[in-house]
Amino acid sequence: MTVENPHGIATEKLDHIITECGGKKSNLIAMLQKVQEVYRYLPEDAMIYIGTKVEGLSPATVFGVATFYAQFSLEPKGKFEIKVCDGTACHVRGSMPVLNAIRAKLNLQAGQLTSENGLFSLETVSCLGACGLAPVVVINDKVYPQMTSDAITIVLDTLMKEEN
Ligand code: FES
Repeated sequence: MTVENPHGIATEKLDHIITECGGKKSNLIAMLQKVQEVYRYLPEDAMIYIGTKVEGLSPATVFGVATFYAQFSLEPKGKFEIKVCDGTACHVRGSMPVLNAIRAKLNLQAGQLTSENGLFSLETVSCLGACGLAPVVVINDKVYPQMTSDAITIVLDTLMKEEN
């Protein structure tokens, strides 16, 4: 039986992940990766659960590891994960106006990374290794080369329409 706690974390799922990783504290990163695959981020309750269940760990240790590695998100991610490259080539060729256009289109306030409807999340990343296509935006696994403010606005409009 799946037991949901008040915050919607399926403890059965977490138990399964812990078992898959041998229940070892040395496999904490693998556990967190699997949790993130399920929820698209690391819910606080999941980290507390793992920190309490796995021998040798504590919630504080789990939080410490989760916040240390950039691959982990402590905030819910959107269905569409937008990554704007702000490496040197992309920056020089205008990644900031593109980023600002995305923030405006999604109505993101300062410090807000995920749109109100939970559909889009936004982050900047360092060089994606496609500098010849700068400025580059990646949405989920799709690469959008030579982006401009207008072009990214059209892309977002299209994705929003598809979701309606
Ligand atoms: S700087 Fe953006 S892809 Fe290299």
